[in-house]
Amino acid sequence: MTTSTFEYRTHTCGALRTTDVGKEVVLLGWVHRVRDLGGVIFFDLRDRYGITQVVVREEEGGDAARVRPEFVVAVYGRVDSRAKDSINAKLETGEVEVVARRVSVLNDAKTPPFPINEEVQVSEDTRLRYRYLDLRKPKLQQNLILRHKVALAARRYFDEEGFLEIETPILTKSTPEGARDYLVPSRVHPSEYFALPQSPQIFKQILMIAGMDRYVQICRCFRDEDLRADRQPEFTQIDVEMSFASEELVYGVVEGAIKVMFETAGFTVATPFARMGYDEAMAKYGSDKPDLRPGMLIHDVSDVFRESPFGVFKDAVAGGGVVRGFAVKGAGKYSRREVDELVEAAKQFGASGLIWLKSDKASAKAIEGDAIAQVFAGCGAAADDLVLLACGEEETTAKLLGNLRLHVAKKENLLNPTDFQFSWVTEFPLFEWDADEKRWNAMHHPFTSCRPEDEPLLDTNPGKARARAYDLALNGSEIAGGSIRIHSPAVQKRVFSLLGISDEDAKARFGFFLEALEYGTPPHGGIAFGLDRIIAILAGESSIRDVMAFPKTAQAADLMSGAPSTVDAKQLRELHIRNV
Ligand code: AMO
Repeated sequence: MTTSTFEYRTHTCGALRTTDVGKEVVLLGWVHRVRDLGGVIFFDLRDRYGITQVVVREEEGGDAARVRPEFVVAVYGRVDSRAKDSINAKLETGEVEVVARRVSVLNDAKTPPFPINEEVQVSEDTRLRYRYLDLRKPKLQQNLILRHKVALAARRYFDEEGFLEIETPILTKSTPEGARDYLVPSRVHPSEYFALPQSPQIFKQILMIAGMDRYVQICRCFRDEDLRADRQPEFTQIDVEMSFASEELVYGVVEGAIKVMFETAGFTVATPFARMGYDEAMAKYGSDKPDLRPGMLIHDVSDVFRESPFGVFKDAVAGGGVVRGFAVKGAGKYSRREVDELVEAAKQFGASGLIWLKSDKASAKAIEGDAIAQVFAGCGAAADDLVLLACGEEETTAKLLGNLRLHVAKKENLLNPTDFQFSWVTEFPLFEWDADEKRWNAMHHPFTSCRPEDEPLLDTNPGKARARAYDLALNGSEIAGGSIRIHSPAVQKRVFSLLGISDEDAKARFGFFLEALEYGTPPHGGIAFGLDRIIAILAGESSIRDVMAFPKTAQAADLMSGAPSTVDAKQLRELHIRNV
């Protein structure tokens, strides 16, 4: 039997302190853990505010004897202080307990498929299938509370800076951000589809044309792309656009927003942030989202091997490739097994091989004496360091060393999660070559403007043209990205044509936008923050799934609701869709 009437709580389960001793209280919550000591029952009562210990003596007349974990109960009793030896310093309520006069069960609970009250290994699928139980765990609740507070702080900040939050449509036309669209068929217009927004990019630019001056939106974006720990098919951006913006104006506003968001989570952030060009990021960190924490910069030592007796490196350099590497502090003492493990890791990252050097020997016998000394000098290595070298085509070598560097940093424990090191990455190429499709792709998106001094390159060497784009990297994660936009209709048309989008195609896909650009478009620019990624970093979580209430699996499914799912034939007929 469960009880449907109860008094409303006087306190939450996180509220009581020694100053409350003697008070008559009513607590409502979930039973977290029960210990029946025969004659006296102890249980912990939990809600999102905390946990309070309840003591029930035998003479209590209510339901206490039958409570089990996850039952919902009301506790009526008096606050008492705990004996010294039973104080729980880990709980904010740990100095008190509630001596129950009566306990009544408001609702029973089935035995959960995994315990809420202890950390046990549970498969991600089970956790997602029973998300409402997983979300009862204090850590996940704290993550969502943090998310709420940080988003609220950001909203307040942007409001104070004169930004208007304006909603843009969810049923819309495709905006290219490099992923596949999620499509929604129209019932009213047979064979026509809406696309869910990959971002509000075009709409926010149109809001600038409409004179809104400063726009912000905490908005959902939808991208059908391969998922990873830091990618979900629907995710949240803090999307920002400003008229008459320069890079400096955007950096200032963003740095202010980050400061406020991090302060809300209890961290102080120093501004201005470091800045580096894309080429420098790729050369020194092997990544366009550099993690600055571990040091261990990558160095180019190709010159050492131009005339080397070590054929592999000599040939790589002669063939236009590079030899690059980095020093691992104090790792000259690594055992054979440890260096072998690094060689294996490098292979996983795509290296055909990895050469290691200690100050007195190298894994390739042909590298010795002077060459070792030059490599050590080139990599800034000390005598007790280990140097790791790889060779090959520039970009692939940079990337594999970037991955290896992070692998070593993890092994060496150099990635302190609360050491926040931000860096703007700028001067991205405007285009990247798509070897499969044999055409240029926009590296950011096709609305990004070119640096004025590189404009002539659009006609002669588009691959060398640099964009007025910027990403904000934090500890190896890209947490925001944006650009100064094209505001001239002629330049926008030119960029579409360079991207192989014909006039006709451009008209069909973006005609409305090209037309809008012709009616007095202010110069403008903006950025979007990946809110999920920022919260995951602040919460110390390695996956953004742990800071989203209802995330999807790596196969883009919602295991709790069972979406996506088939629909009935009638619905399909109405939508003019036939299954193939
Ligand atoms: P971009 O595509 O770089 O830019 O996205 C901005 C930020 O959003 C986050 N992000 C994601 N987070 C979780 N899951 C995903 N699948 C995902 N994809 C992106 C990243 C990224 O830095 N319209 C432009 C912004 C602009 O130019 O103003 C855009 O969407 O943190």
